[in-house]
This record gives sequence, C-alpha cells and structure tokens, in this order.
Amino acid sequence: MGKGSGYGKVILFGEHFVVHGVPGIVSAIDSSTDAEVKKASKLTIRDERKTAKGYSEEKRLQQIESIERMLKAMDLDPKMPLDIWIGGSLPGFSGLGASAASSVAIARAISEELNLNLSNEKINSVAYEGEKAYAGNPSGIDNTAATYGGVMWFKKNPAGGQDLVEKIHLKRPVEIVIGSTGKVANTKAMVEGVAERKKANPAKYDPLFKQAESLAVAGRKAIEAGDLKKVGDLMNENHRILQEIGVSSKELDLLVDMARKQGAFGAKLTGGGGGGCMVALTPGKDLQGKVASAFKTAGYEFIATKIGVVTY
Ligand code: MEV
Repeated sequence: MGKGSGYGKVILFGEHFVVHGVPGIVSAIDSSTDAEVKKASKLTIRDERKTAKGYSEEKRLQQIESIERMLKAMDLDPKMPLDIWIGGSLPGFSGLGASAASSVAIARAISEELNLNLSNEKINSVAYEGEKAYAGNPSGIDNTAATYGGVMWFKKNPAGGQDLVEKIHLKRPVEIVIGSTGKVANTKAMVEGVAERKKANPAKYDPLFKQAESLAVAGRKAIEAGDLKKVGDLMNENHRILQEIGVSSKELDLLVDMARKQGAFGAKLTGGGGGGCMVALTPGKDLQGKVASAFKTAGYEFIATKIGVVTY
C-alpha cells in the first residue's frame, strides 16, 4: 500500500488575482489530507474526511476527473483501477485547499504504491494537473502550498513556464482562526466568473488588480517586519477588493465582521469565496480564543491554528 499527505492552506493575500499573474501570499496550516492507495481490480474511492454538508457529493465528479488527470500526468493509464482511501485532519471545507491537499496526498500515495519515486517538484506538477478538474484554470498556489508547506510568495508565470515561489520568514508563528460558512463553493465557477467580469469591465477591474498587487507587496513587507497590525489592516483592505470583484458572500462578510468586532487584527475571506471559509489574524491565545468562541456561540465551525508552523 502507498501512503501520502498534503497540507491545507490559507491565502493571506491575493486569491483570484493570483490566477491572472498578480503575486499572492499563502500559508500552509498544520492540518493535512492523507491518502492510501492500493492496486485493485476496479476504481474505489473511500472518502472519510470530515466535510461540510454536501461537499463530497458536489466534488465527486471533479474528484474522479482529477485522479484521471493525475494518472495521465504520471504517464499511467488514466483508468487504472485503484483502491483509494482519503482521510486526515484537514476538513473538506471550501477555501482550505482541500482539493489540492487531496491531490498531493493521492499523487504521493500512487507514487509510493507503484514505486515511481517522484520528486516533490513532479508531485506538485501532477497535483496541478489534478487541480484543473476542481478550479478550471488554477494558479497553482494551492498545490504548491499543499506540497511544500511553509509561508510563501507565489507568482504564476502567465506564459506557462516556471512560477515564482519564494519562502517568507515569519518572526514567529501567529495564531489565526478560520471560520467556515458551512457552504460548499464551486471554485471553478468562481474563477470563471471573475475572468468574465474582468474581461467585460476593465475600467473597474484593472485598478483593483493593481491594488491587489500593492497589497501583496506591502503584506510581505509587514509580515517580514513582524508588523501584525499592518498585516491585519492590509488583510481588511484585501477583503474589500474581494467584495468588489464579487466573490464574497453574506455569510463570509458576517464572519469577517464578527471577527473584527472581537478585536481580530484583520479578517478576510480565503480561497475561492462564494461560501467556504474566512481567516482572521488573531495574535495571542486570548484573542484567538475570543474570536473562536464568538464563532462557536453563533453556531459556525472553526479551526484555531497558526500560520508559520509547518515549514519546508
Ligand atoms: C483558491 O484557493 C484560490 C484561487 O485563487 C484559485 C487559484 O488560485 O487557483 C481562487
């Protein structure tokens, strides 16, 4: 039997914009998706992740397509019969990179089961092929975080060559709270929607894309300087432009407001939006606890964790 894992992630700056070549900042979180793969006589997928209601059903066809794409990218028969088990500590909530984490986990498990000995670089590129089934035209930020962990600066190469990936050093790990709306989102539809609106309305969208770039640059500086107040302010600004490009939702805005009212340094949606999750920057155990208990009281699921804990 082959085994493999992939990290979940939060995007601190730049989701959606990153698809179009704007830099983004992502941090892996200390929850992973794990996979086990065995050669078999037919394809079976046992998905035992804790998920938001309807997540597995909604993603089922994309999951099968993703596995076929990955097998093809490994020069294997896309219809190869395999027994695949998926589990681990990362919940199947939209926005946490759960699809990329599962792609990386499955790719690693296939590599081990078939003695392919694939490098991390190859696993990452195979998982990127798998991500296309979930996100249509993904930037590659999620699979890169899922493969390597750490906090990173990511800039897609729009020409299709090597992406720019740089490690970002945090002064110390920082507490965050991830709040889940409980709504499953279709990343592919969200990414397509932004691309269509951008094309139809460049006068509105071009300046927003410029702002997204400035925010990522300023965010990196503030993270590296350990200026968490500034990081939080910039995350708030990032949420505002994500609202403007039409990817937030009523529930995401509600959780973002709730976190800010409890004193979070900053809060924004994370990932594809339209449902899924948000992230609040809550340095220190006390502040983290306050935000987490506000979510709990309001009946929302949450993950209290840190950025900068898993490094490569
Ligand atoms: C999803 O986690 C992030 C998006 O920017 C899509 C992508 O970058 O592939 C929405």
